[in-house]
Amino acid sequence: MPQAVVFDRVGGPEVLRLQQVEVGAPGPGQARVRHSAIAVNFIDIYFRTGLYPTPLPSGLGSDAVGVVEAIGPDVSEVAVGDRVAYLVGPQGAYSDVRLLPAQVLIRLPDAISDLTAACLMMKGMTAQYLFRQVFPLQGGETILYHAAAGGVGLIACQWARAIGVTMIGTVSTEEKAAIAQAHGCTHTIVTSRDNTVERVKELTGGQGVAVVFDSVGKDTLQDSLNCLRPRGTLVSNGTSSGPVLVDTMQLAAKGSLWLTRPAMMHYIMPRSHMLSMADEVFAMVQSGKIRCLPSHTYALGEAAQAHQALESRQTTGASVLLP
Ligand SMILES: NC(=O)c1ccc[n+]([C@@H]2O[C@H](COP(=O)([O-])OP(=O)(O)OC[C@H]3O[C@@H](n4cnc5c(N)ncnc54)[C@H](OP(=O)(O)O)[C@@H]3O)[C@@H](O)[C@H]2O)c1
Repeated sequence: MPQAVVFDRVGGPEVLRLQQVEVGAPGPGQARVRHSAIAVNFIDIYFRTGLYPTPLPSGLGSDAVGVVEAIGPDVSEVAVGDRVAYLVGPQGAYSDVRLLPAQVLIRLPDAISDLTAACLMMKGMTAQYLFRQVFPLQGGETILYHAAAGGVGLIACQWARAIGVTMIGTVSTEEKAAIAQAHGCTHTIVTSRDNTVERVKELTGGQGVAVVFDSVGKDTLQDSLNCLRPRGTLVSNGTSSGPVLVDTMQLAAKGSLWLTRPAMMHYIMPRSHMLSMADEVFAMVQSGKIRCLPSHTYALGEAAQAHQALESRQTTGASVLLP
């Protein structure tokens, strides 16, 4: 019988449990997808802890790879047997098989393996929209990027290198610094040892950077603002350390700064745009500019361990559940 990770109450990793579930035939517009690999993303922790509210009991996860087993009426986006992946849609990706709206599914090119796709969908598409849509980088810029050795981070390092951007990346340990540099991060700041603002000023001749990509949130907000040059942009794209509250007067005082808090869903629609974004991400892999495979794999029933490792900063790169 199919299995899925569910939770009945918000809380720590221990609220996640594996249970047997019924998965019926797909209805109109739906496809049944058998998963081969499931991505673990920090956003899953926000749902599990209640930072992002969801009706309970709930499944978890929105990013996985698999094969279409069956389609319902009125499905034109995919066919039975297609290898597919997705990064939006209802919670419930932590499962071995499930129903999904066919319109969220992206067909995978032969050259993209299931494991690479599991590292690429949410994380690669995030790098795409941050660097190509939220703050379009031309090449030649110097940027500050927090959590450079993370799942999105290691793809961002490679993307920045590929387009000629000087990336200053923050990481918490020397080991993570070496990994970020090996992926193309130009300069690393080890936050447990270095003063981020001083290092950024040194590396930019006292100017500061034009843009900071800050997925860490609460703990890094002030450093991020202090690393920007006048009229620079803070892209606050995550809250790994907790939510961000900004006094807008600070934006004026620190140099008429710009602040945006982007969410993927507003950069991925309509479906034709999502498919073009995915094509661009796949092309980065097919040209050899970006390589990604999971750094950490777990069985589906070990989702709690995967969360524990991710939220306690023990991971680098992508974590993937194997059903
Ligand atoms: N806005 C969007 O559309 C969007 C889409 C995708 C992802 N995101 C965000 O991007 C970020 C990266 O996601 P990911 O799945 O790739 O995770 P990740 O970067 O692999 O993991 C989070 C990293 O953040 C750093 N961190 C700093 N302080 C932390 C703290 N107090 N607790 C936990 N981690 C802390 C850690 O790196 P160090 O130990 O090196 O500091 C940790 O490894 C997340 O914030 C996520 O929500 C946003």
